[in-house]
Amino acid sequence: MTQTRSIIRGVGGYLPANRVTNDELAQRVETSDEWIQQRTGIKQRYLAADGEFTSDLALAAAQQALERAGLTPADIDLIIVATTTPDYTFPSTAAIVQRKLGMHHGAAFDLQAVCSGFVFAVATADSYLKNGLAKRALVIGAETFSRLLDWNDRTTCVLFGDGAGAVVMEVEHVGDDAPERGVLASSLRSDGHYWDKLYTKGGPSTTLGMGYVHMEGKEVFRHAVGMITDVVNSVFETTGYGVDDLDWFIPHQANKRIIDGAGHKLHIPPEKVVVTVDRHANTSAASVPLALNEAFTDGRIKPGDLVMLEAMGGGFTWAASLIRW
Ligand code: ACO
Repeated sequence: MTQTRSIIRGVGGYLPANRVTNDELAQRVETSDEWIQQRTGIKQRYLAADGEFTSDLALAAAQQALERAGLTPADIDLIIVATTTPDYTFPSTAAIVQRKLGMHHGAAFDLQAVCSGFVFAVATADSYLKNGLAKRALVIGAETFSRLLDWNDRTTCVLFGDGAGAVVMEVEHVGDDAPERGVLASSLRSDGHYWDKLYTKGGPSTTLGMGYVHMEGKEVFRHAVGMITDVVNSVFETTGYGVDDLDWFIPHQANKRIIDGAGHKLHIPPEKVVVTVDRHANTSAASVPLALNEAFTDGRIKPGDLVMLEAMGGGFTWAASLIRW
């Protein structure tokens, strides 16, 4: 008897060169390093350069993931880019990444679930691979979120940054007695009744423009911890694993207080929680793969480790995925 599973073959990440500290932001809007750190844990963020697009960030992360997997674009037959800040309204940023990788084959599309996008994309690729629609997928979370911000609005502009992270996922057919590996279970949720708690005031169909980010911060905060614990517990229930089995918790990096609140409610020891929000700020769909990339690159994540990804964002959307490394 054989089983079909999807495993992570490679991980990559990319941050733009321009690092902007809270003190530098305080020269643009009325804020302070102390206020930002106290409320969010953020110390700095990276911002894409003029002429540097979401597809460029995605490409750099994808190339690193491919290189670490020992693969080339010829080996890939599916590209999913999770993003809220596409290069163009259409075509998809994934199609542009496909072109930049020199590929004519396979399929490429974007996935829009805002900050939860990467976890939604991992679950989507997992399904495609297990159902025979593709063999190897590049799953990318990439954002130039800074371009969606009103830089005069101190309530939002201090929270976000730009970046990209990527994984290569591959289908495997192995014997039933093979050691457990790959995506074990995912849980995806959304509730559009909360659409206006976190949204852009505009879009192609409504205002014919782009619109800037508008957020009811307290409302987001109020729901975040409960929604995160909901999907994490759902994945634990499906797999039969629990918090004690977990090696690494890789949360969406929106705010250190939300991360701490979720960790506390789930009884996850802080040393198992991967935190990058202090240096990356909130990079939306890029935040989870960037944190994953950091923990992989510095050697924290080892073969056989049990890794929980989770995210929550606009929609609202919220999602978790449990992976045996
Ligand atoms: N610098 C200084 N003062 C500020 C700033 C700033 N950057 N922003 C707001 N203030 C002021 C407000 O004007 C207000 O002043 P007032 O009392 O004179 O009116 C005061 O600080 C308090 O404002 P609140 O909005 O009540 O601040 P709060 O304590 O709620 O913190 C925050 C705001 C950090 C956004 C918080 O609500 C939060 O963490 N929410 C979670 C949302 C989040 O993290 N979103 C990220 C994107 S969503 C996602 O990825 C899931």
